[in-house]
Amino acid sequence: MSADLPIGVFDSGVGGLTVLRALCAVLPEESFIYLGDTARLPYGTKSEHSVARYALQAADELIERGIKTLVVACNTASAAALPALQQRFSEIPVVGVIEPGARAACAATKSGRIAVLATESTVRGGAYSQAIARIRPEAEVTAIACALFVALAEEGWTEGPVAAAAAERYLAPLRAAQSRAPDTIVLGCTHFPVLKSVIASAAGPGVRLVDSAATTAQEVRQLLVTRGLQRVPGGAAPAVSFLATDAVDRFAEVGGRFFGAPIAADEVELIDL
Ligand code: DGL
Repeated sequence: MSADLPIGVFDSGVGGLTVLRALCAVLPEESFIYLGDTARLPYGTKSEHSVARYALQAADELIERGIKTLVVACNTASAAALPALQQRFSEIPVVGVIEPGARAACAATKSGRIAVLATESTVRGGAYSQAIARIRPEAEVTAIACALFVALAEEGWTEGPVAAAAAERYLAPLRAAQSRAPDTIVLGCTHFPVLKSVIASAAGPGVRLVDSAATTAQEVRQLLVTRGLQRVPGGAAPAVSFLATDAVDRFAEVGGRFFGAPIAADEVELIDL
């Protein structure tokens, strides 16, 4: 396995670019190849069976192109398919975002009451609750499916009355719990970090918001060190390349907001899985 190979990052669309951004910040010497399955987005409303099938196909594509590690940036795909991906691609490390997110939440909470905001599919599968219970068995977890947040984030409506109203509505059960309300909220979906400010306002003061991007990036860094797979600085400049299964123009336009840097449409390769 060559340390010069890129790290593969996979998501249902553009949301995983928030994870890629964290990876690029923590691992500036590494090259990345990002695949957004925009043709089949959203995964969050689909069955676990379909999501797992899509995730295996996307991983096949990245492995064929040559990667040294696979990061499943999509929470829904991590929840539905991580064990299957780790089993099928046992020759490389396969990292998901659920465990790192659960670890970040357990480290942040003081009361042991944690809320998870995620897609319908992630909530239904219970992956976050299970991961948190493995780390902190006494934790109380409330999971809320927030499907509209995905559309709002893609539309760029991350602030203003519509986003605030959606956040108020989704978080109402948490506020109603009053003194038993969670002190920590996990943003358990790639799209939610861009809505951080309206979610924080709706949650009220003193509630911590955590997401898995930074923790996942640290985990990948540690894995590369442990396995001796870190790219040695000084060779060819690191590169980031993008693949999408549909609508490369939209991927570039909307994706730039999630990545935090412009993406040119002609940099995005259209592929079929
Ligand atoms: N990437 C998905 C996730 O993190 C959100 C978008 C979707 O539903 O596909 O769960």
